[in-house]
Amino acid sequence: MLTIILAESELEIMPGELVNHPLIVSFAHQRRKQPYRILLDSNYHHVAMKDLVDGRRRGRPDITHLFLLTALESIANKKGQLKIIIHTRHDDVIYVNPETRIMRNYDRFVGLIEQLFEKKIIRSQEQTLLELKQKVPLNKVIEELKADKIIAFSEEGKATNLNKYLNDLKKHKEKNIVCIVGGFPSGKFNCDMESIAADIISIYPEMLVAWAVASEILVNYEITYL
Ligand SMILES: C[S@@+](CC[C@H](N)C(=O)[O-])C[C@H]1O[C@@H](n2cnc3c(N)ncnc32)[C@H](O)[C@@H]1O
Repeated sequence: MLTIILAESELEIMPGELVNHPLIVSFAHQRRKQPYRILLDSNYHHVAMKDLVDGRRRGRPDITHLFLLTALESIANKKGQLKIIIHTRHDDVIYVNPETRIMRNYDRFVGLIEQLFEKKIIRSQEQTLLELKQKVPLNKVIEELKADKIIAFSEEGKATNLNKYLNDLKKHKEKNIVCIVGGFPSGKFNCDMESIAADIISIYPEMLVAWAVASEILVNYEITYL
């Protein structure tokens, strides 16, 4: 089984310090929602975000959207061999049912995640599709997975051929693999990744977007294990 955690994702409800900002009030009014019920989105809110702590990195639901579309449509997921977890900067954790079909339309996706933050659970008729648990730090999420190997992906990690790396894991009978990919647009993990992951690897000499890294992991895992 492969688990991919999109860690420290920049997915959050409007922070308290911005709910009274005129731009946010007017944006929320247009969407007929309360300001404290909308997602922070730098596409639309960057002017209001200029004095926000870490403002240049926050408010990126698009990264989670593209990651989920990539992972849920993968062969590994279709074969029932993938767990997908979204962890956010505020330690909110979203458990994603592999059968979830995420809408391709970005605005509808934002609406879905806003509903999730409000209700904490999204169900279809027969099953839970998305579940939000709050205040679960990344190390706790990982502990529960009982992994054989925990691998973090970083541009600054050890240069590694992913295909060869996974083949070595397979030879050592390591099957339950957890891969951690950052769900943020720039900068480093805030947590001490060395204390969480066995290896921190770079799969390409330049920075890649999170969903491209996820797709490399998914394809190489499929070729090696499935
Ligand atoms: C847009 S990057 C964030 C930039 C950041 N400098 C970094 O690599 O940590 C999003 C995530 O994709 C992964 N990533 C980006 N480039 C990578 C590379 N060359 N090798 C491995 N992982 C990479 C990392 O997990 C990273 O947190």
